[in-house]
Amino acid sequence: MFTRQTLYTLTTILAIESSCDETSASVCVDGKILSNFIANQTIHEKYGGVVPELASRAHMQHIVPVVSAAINQVQSTHDSQFTIHDISAIAFTQAPGLIGSLLVGAQFAKSLALSLNKPLIAVHHMQAHVLANLIDEDNSPEFPFLCLTVSGGHTQIVLAKSPLALEVIGETIDDAAGEAFDKTAKLLGLPYPGGPLIDKYAKEGNPTAFKFAEPQIPDLNFSFSGLKTSVLYFLQKHDAAFIQNNLSDLCASVQHTIITILLKKIKLAVKQTGIKNVCIAGGVSANSGLRNALTVMGNQYSWKIFIPKFEYCTDNAAMIAITAYYKYLANDFAELSVSPTARAEW
Ligand code: KG4
Ligand code: ZN
Repeated sequence: MFTRQTLYTLTTILAIESSCDETSASVCVDGKILSNFIANQTIHEKYGGVVPELASRAHMQHIVPVVSAAINQVQSTHDSQFTIHDISAIAFTQAPGLIGSLLVGAQFAKSLALSLNKPLIAVHHMQAHVLANLIDEDNSPEFPFLCLTVSGGHTQIVLAKSPLALEVIGETIDDAAGEAFDKTAKLLGLPYPGGPLIDKYAKEGNPTAFKFAEPQIPDLNFSFSGLKTSVLYFLQKHDAAFIQNNLSDLCASVQHTIITILLKKIKLAVKQTGIKNVCIAGGVSANSGLRNALTVMGNQYSWKIFIPKFEYCTDNAAMIAITAYYKYLANDFAELSVSPTARAEW
């Protein structure tokens, strides 16, 4: 529990995440998350994917209530007199993401920073996914560690030497793991986002019932486009009744293939780097099959496995807040002229 005095003297970050279809705000005090509110956008379900303009409009609607909720939570649980003026800095997701979505969060954060006369911190969304592993102080990895970051737009293996020294050592050359889940789910007639539904049906299915293509990609890179094509060709030979009757086995087999592709490369990364602290991050790390398989592999090879809580796997502002906290300590602030970008190297 933080008292009023400590909230004043410690580093208090208000962070905003709006890179895709979740609007989120979080308050973090000296690396401890005090609140993390997320507003999901269900409007995209009927379109089978995120519609950028609708996402931007929904962020506009959600951002004020979500930021207020994050502040109110600190008031009700830690300090009834806490206000937005007690914040040390405002952080926001600068890249990568949908540009219209990013613009809403960036502009809101910049306006707040200007009006409150507080410093601004720009955060890279993918770095934040990795640092979500530092949120749980009782179970966070020591450096260096490897992180398999698997989301709707990215699939990467990251070598983390310190909070702000992160290096991508492998990545997908085409689709991301989340896209592999969502696109195959669509072929199976499941609504967007299909990843959580494949996870759900896979629990009742046989993972080796059907065999789908596994890519032969060198080094630590990934490819998922062949899997999608392989599922498409397989389904073209069957009718809708077949899919309905075999949905659990199909989901379990697709999930098993994706997990096999991912774990093969993380095993190679451990072999190449000698680093045995292994984390996962990103929306796909919410997948129960992947979480179980990585835990089993960790026990088998004596690796230390770190898996963030579900709420910190999919897009959330707590991960932006923790990253901003380390940037604050490093005096890494952004100018008010900063702009978001849809793509960004790190
Ligand atoms: O990190 P995230 O929330 O947003 C991006 O930055 O992309 O990841 C979203 C992705 C989607 O592709 C979604 O289907 C997938 O994460 N996902 C899952 C699960 N929960 C979310 N995929 C498989 N199993 C899940 N349980
Ligand atoms: Zn993400």
